[in-house]
Amino acid sequence: MYVCICNAVTERHIGEAVSEGVSTLRELRTRLGVAGECGRCATCARDCLRTAMAEQTATAKPVMAGFAPSYFLAVEAV
Ligand code: FES
Repeated sequence: MYVCICNAVTERHIGEAVSEGVSTLRELRTRLGVAGECGRCATCARDCLRTAMAEQTATAKPVMAGFAPSYFLAVEAV
């Protein structure tokens, strides 16, 4: 679904931006131009941003406390 008609930005584009670290509407505007023209997409874009962030959090793999991947240990041993 198109979120921002002015800049042809879809939900998928927003999801990709979130997976690359975008977490605010301001960052989304800088990266994709969302809400940078007429501004009518701002509310929808913010909702999509929150949904994408929630989905990313839900699918994130848990990190075990005290776990050090073997490549960190290899670097320390050098
Ligand atoms: S619809 Fe997004 S700036 Fe116009």
